[in-house]
Amino acid sequence: MSSGTDLSRLEDDVLTEVAGAGDLAALDAVRVSAIGKKGRISELMAQLGKLPAEERKAFGAAVNALKTKVSDALDARKATLETAALSARLANERADVTLPVRAGAEVLGRIHPVSQVLDECIEIFADLGFEVAEGPDIETDDLNFTKLNIPAEHPARQEHDTFYFNPKPDGSRLLLRTHTSPVQIRTMQNKTPPIRIIAPGRVYRCDSDQTHTPMFHQIEGLVIDEKTHMGHLKWVLEEFAKAFFEVDNVTMRFRASHFPFTEPSMEVDIDASAIGKPGQWLEILGCGMVHPNVLANCGLNPEKYQGFAFGMGLDRITMLKYGLPDLRAFFSADLRWLRHYGFSLLDQPTLGGGLSS
Ligand code: PHE
Repeated sequence: MSSGTDLSRLEDDVLTEVAGAGDLAALDAVRVSAIGKKGRISELMAQLGKLPAEERKAFGAAVNALKTKVSDALDARKATLETAALSARLANERADVTLPVRAGAEVLGRIHPVSQVLDECIEIFADLGFEVAEGPDIETDDLNFTKLNIPAEHPARQEHDTFYFNPKPDGSRLLLRTHTSPVQIRTMQNKTPPIRIIAPGRVYRCDSDQTHTPMFHQIEGLVIDEKTHMGHLKWVLEEFAKAFFEVDNVTMRFRASHFPFTEPSMEVDIDASAIGKPGQWLEILGCGMVHPNVLANCGLNPEKYQGFAFGMGLDRITMLKYGLPDLRAFFSADLRWLRHYGFSLLDQPTLGGGLSS
């Protein structure tokens, strides 16, 4: 049976362990092994009943005293360790508030010029009452060509350098849309006039040089109503060009052209003196009055409805407005290029605040 010597040895052992516990977890392990339910000191208490009555009182008191001593030692050690942990954390997390502010995402990040110009265009056309419509990059032959009055075997299909997917068992082929014009069809099939939309997006053609990349961006415009005429088309495009290039006047030249889905069709050049290059005409878009066949293909009565459409190269007007010479750089994911030509995240284009300033 435990004697006074055993008790004092146990006391020495436990107190040494307490003093040696290097952190709170280690200290808790010591607590459990000493005064936990099955701890060494608790175990002694359980033996009390087996002692002769005359020894019981003194032994019980001694064990209780030991337990109190150990508890106090545990508490004291715990307080010390907690203070040490807190000081270590404070030292570790100390912030030098005199250092300059570190640049965050809003300072380092850049908006790609094409995204910026898209936002500018949306802002301008929204002000003219246009909604933004969207269509998928992977289109059907029917929507990209046939419904747009470009039947199979039509020579215009060759000019588009189309990327086709493998034909399906029924012979039909999906393709990467070669222009945003299929969104005209999707819109007319689903809405009744008046229609006023722009449809920005990616388009694809198998072509690559300094001014052509296999993927580029267009903005389609479509207005359909009962009395919409070419005067409206011309006005909208002029208002757009003035707002976009941020000038009071632009001279535009409408050249007769041909697109199967418009009649008449025109290509539009702007007099580049507006952007500081006098004497040059720069082509920015194709347009025309929507062909009656296209209206009929979408279930609209060409005797009742008429309107105009245009398709503008977004990358092209970005190059013109911001003086970027090489289209391929737009898509090379070169961070140095983006840091140089990109826009600040906080530079939201608004008509009131100025598009680009
Ligand atoms: N879809 C034509 C192109 O990609 C542009 C266009 C759109 C022309 C709408 C007229 C009307 O070249």
